[in-house]
Order: sequence, then C-alpha cells, then structure tokens
Amino acid sequence: MEMPAPLCFLYTWTLSPLSKTGSPPPLKSPAGILVGLFLIHYFHRAILQPLYSPRRSPSHIIVPIIAFVYQTVNGSLLGCYFSSREVATDAWDQPAFWAWVGLFFAGMVGNIYHDNLLISLRRNTHRAAKAKGEKPHYGIPRGGLFALISYPNYFCEWLEWVGFAMASTVGSPFPPSYVTPPWVFLLSEVCVMLPRAVSGHGWYKQKFEDYPKERKAVIPFLL
Ligand SMILES: NC(=O)c1ccc[n+]([C@@H]2O[C@H](COP(=O)([O-])OP(=O)(O)OC[C@H]3O[C@@H](n4cnc5c(N)ncnc54)[C@H](OP(=O)(O)O)[C@@H]3O)[C@@H](O)[C@H]2O)c1
Repeated sequence: MEMPAPLCFLYTWTLSPLSKTGSPPPLKSPAGILVGLFLIHYFHRAILQPLYSPRRSPSHIIVPIIAFVYQTVNGSLLGCYFSSREVATDAWDQPAFWAWVGLFFAGMVGNIYHDNLLISLRRNTHRAAKAKGEKPHYGIPRGGLFALISYPNYFCEWLEWVGFAMASTVGSPFPPSYVTPPWVFLLSEVCVMLPRAVSGHGWYKQKFEDYPKERKAVIPFLL
C-alpha cells in the first residue's frame, strides 16, 4: 500500500523535471540527505514492517485505493521538489539543519517503538483470546508515551515529518515558504490521522472502564 510513495519519489527525482541542469542535486547535499531520510522511512514502512507485522484486520476496499492514490501523488510531488536544486541549498553548515534531521530520527525511533508495542499487544490479545475460544479483541496499550497519549505512534510520526519539513526550510530565502510539498505532506498526514486518533481515543475510553483518565489522545498534556 505504501510502495508507490518511494517508487514515484525515485522516478520523479531521477527525471528531475524542475532541475535547471536536468539532473538532481548530488546525494552529498542537504537535498540529498532529505531524499535519504524519505527513502529510509519508506524502506522500513513499506518493506521491513510488513515482514514482521501480523496481518491487519480487514478494512473497506476504499482505504487501500485512497492510500494508493495519495502515496502516488505525494511521492511524485516530493521527488520533483527535491530534484529542483532549490531546496535547503545553504543548509549544510547550519546546525539547525542537523538538529531537524535529528528530530526526524528521534520521531522515527519513537514511531517504530510504539508500533512494536501495539504489534506485541495484538499478538498477546489474539493468543489469549484464541486459548479461551473467544473472538480476538483489543487491549489497553502500555509503555513509553502510552502513559501520556493513546496514539504515540502517530505523534512520533508527526515529529518525523516536522523535522523533515523544517530541515527542508533551513537556508531558504527569507521569508521561508511554508507552502511547499514537505509542509503539504505534513499537513495532510495530520488531517488524516488526527480525526482517527481522536475517535480511537474516545473508543478506548468508552470500551475500557479502567482506561487511564489522564491519558490524552495524541498530543501530550494538550489533546
Ligand atoms: N492510519 C493512518 O491514517 C496513517 C497514516 C500515515 C501513517 N500511519 C502510520 O502507520 C502506522 C500504523 O498505523 P495504523 O493507524 O495503520 O494502525 P494502528 O491502529 O496503529 O494499528 C497497528 C497495529 O496494532 C494493532 N493494534 C492497534 N491498537 C491495538 C490495541 N489496542 N490492541 C491490540 N492491537 C492493536 C492493529 O491491529 P488491527 O489490524 O487488528 O487493528 C495493527 O496490527 C503508524 O506508524 C502510523 O503512524 C498511519
């Protein structure tokens, strides 16, 4: 479902339709680093994670169709944008650029960590239900940022893409534009995931009487 993003990204990056020289910037450049971050994320999400995750519960056919279209458009736009040689051109020597790259990696580690907590919870609840001859069910996730929010995997994913978008803005001419593909990507992720997190949090509170009262939906202490 996620594969179109890296494939379309690589296709338009290689094609470089917006590059004045007709080729993408070198990989040893700020734009090249950002290309690497995007591809690392999708290597994990599209190739590694499906190998070790249990089968997902069935969803409506419209979900993978929308995801496919979204990934195709998003990957193509970002690949085109980063091939333009105009992204973060002077950022290499700026500590802010590397700090935002650091936030990307912190977000990625947090995202994978909390996804893995959910995956093991799913395995355990399914195993326990099967042993009792019951239908599989969901449990209360615990550990890490689950102490504070119901969807730390989403929160950490947003941190990743905030780091990515901010890093792509370092070194831009002043005032920097926040209407670029990395920012549109971040905004679209938040728009898709926020309602899911808020309704999922409501579901947890309704379903489990002992659900931790202090836990927020997706932003620690706030929402
Ligand atoms: N959903 C989106 O719109 C979206 C968009 C962009 C990125 N992502 C990223 O994709 C990754 C997965 O997110 P997701 O929303 O697709 O899945 P998710 O709801 O976080 O669920 C992931 C896995 O954990 C299981 N699970 C979740 N809550 C559980 C609970 N309380 N008890 C037992 N098992 C539980 C799910 O089982 P079932 O399959 O049985 O439900 C599934 O196997 C995250 O890293 C997220 O940041 C998601």
